[in-house]
Amino acid sequence: MPRAHANSKPETRNANPARLVPRLLAWFAANARDLPWRRTRDPYAIWVSEIMLQQTQVKTVIPYWERWLRELPTIEALAQAPSEKIHKLWEGLGYYTRVRNLQKAAQQIVARPDALSPSRRSRGDEAQTKNELETPHVVSYKFPESFDAILDLPGIGRYTAGAIASIAFNQPTPILDGNVIRVLTRVFGIAENPKEKKTNAKLWQLAEQLVHHASRLTFHDSPCSHLNQSLMELGALVCTPHSPQCAVCPVQKLCVARKKNLQEKLPNLGKRAAATERRFLAFVAERNGKFLVRQRPAGVVNAHLWEFPNVEVGARLCEPQHVLAEFNALRVTDPRSEKLEPLCTIKHSITRYRITLEAWHAELANPQPAAPVSDPAQNGSHARTAPGRRPARQGCWLTPARLRQLAFTSAHKKILAVLEQRG
Ligand code: ADE
Repeated sequence: MPRAHANSKPETRNANPARLVPRLLAWFAANARDLPWRRTRDPYAIWVSEIMLQQTQVKTVIPYWERWLRELPTIEALAQAPSEKIHKLWEGLGYYTRVRNLQKAAQQIVARPDALSPSRRSRGDEAQTKNELETPHVVSYKFPESFDAILDLPGIGRYTAGAIASIAFNQPTPILDGNVIRVLTRVFGIAENPKEKKTNAKLWQLAEQLVHHASRLTFHDSPCSHLNQSLMELGALVCTPHSPQCAVCPVQKLCVARKKNLQEKLPNLGKRAAATERRFLAFVAERNGKFLVRQRPAGVVNAHLWEFPNVEVGARLCEPQHVLAEFNALRVTDPRSEKLEPLCTIKHSITRYRITLEAWHAELANPQPAAPVSDPAQNGSHARTAPGRRPARQGCWLTPARLRQLAFTSAHKKILAVLEQRG
């Protein structure tokens, strides 16, 4: 058979697992960041890191992860922790369903009949396994090792199961997240939208080929773990969304996007949904040094977190008399006694929403406790409803010291910080 001319081959000819994997592993060995969860093989600690790292940056996660493992060093400790404690440890990380699923999964693990690790059952407290010797955390409950069993746990999808199985157990399970998608679409020159089913399947297949190739490298101690982490790391440090550092990339010579100067065009994520502006008023009612707060109910955004009573208003700016009307509609204040003043304006973004939260402070002279506080959250997320028809829900009057022990939504935590600055 005649040999094909080099130029007639597809552009991806050079980017194959045999060429990519050794380069990626060598680069990772020399350039990996010293991250705390990379110093352990405790699957519990790695699992916690992967859940925290969903939607959250590494530098934000580090102190949360360290504190979490100090406070809840084992699966058993997590399974038994009070809800208030796990929410407080997660406060500020957002996406709180993650923390509730983490605890649900821990409770499932400890409830399994085969849950205790063999060393713990037969040898008391002595550390036995490699994991236990390498890590400061006490591993008393057996984390499931098979990909399918990990995937069965609440809050764990294909990416997270693949990450845990490969990083904790060096199994050849692929991973595909935003960073890996960026690396693979660029290296292989994939111009289709990675969210499309066929393209997504193709990317998973490429990720699988790479980690399978790595699993055959017997000279390496943890090739699957390091190969997957090299893809994450390359995406985070070098193959960045904008102005990627191609000059220091270990696979630059194999990269189709670099050859064709398509780095800024790939991945092709289609058009972004336009941002939506939303405005809320929050009411910081103070009486005898205590503040009125309430807990968001189950089943809504930021469920179980605490907040000041608030209401969504239209896009227009509010005059004090309008704020006062809203305040009184919520029955937070006694209209004869309040001294109302603007406290602060918090701007933040959640998914595609650009939120402005205007907080007003009222010092109440009335010694009676406030009337029940209506809860717009009970009507589903932040939906605005007619004040009279909102179900009433009693808030609590709490001291600043008690407020500090509770987990607040990020925006309301900022209000709390402003209050504390004022003294
Ligand atoms: N992002 C997701 N998982 C990660 C990990 N294990 N290390 C660094 N970044 C990550």
